[in-house]
Amino acid sequence: ETGWVKLGLTAEIGIGEVRRLDFEQQTFAIYHTKTGQFYASEGICTHGSTHLADGLVIGEEVECPKHNGRFLIKDGSPTRPPVCLALKTFPMKVDQHELYIDLT
Ligand code: FES
Repeated sequence: ETGWVKLGLTAEIGIGEVRRLDFEQQTFAIYHTKTGQFYASEGICTHGSTHLADGLVIGEEVECPKHNGRFLIKDGSPTRPPVCLALKTFPMKVDQHELYIDLT
């Protein structure tokens, strides 16, 4: 199984939180939704150079802290201006309390 990269531990991200995790030169935002699911997107807002991990998880969306644009966490689609470009998202899996992201 190439492509799966270990990013961290599930325990690092509380329910309803978003955290920044880095791998090599890439920065990701990892979300733990209230339904218990983990999701991953690129870590920087598509509207400006702001870390989404400094924002808020609001229901199924993440809100950027800079201009309060929002994205749907599960697929990165923009849901509130001023963001208009989707975030790239990545498949995730959990195994033995570790988080894996698929970078293929
Ligand atoms: Fe994220 Fe502007 S930088 S909404």
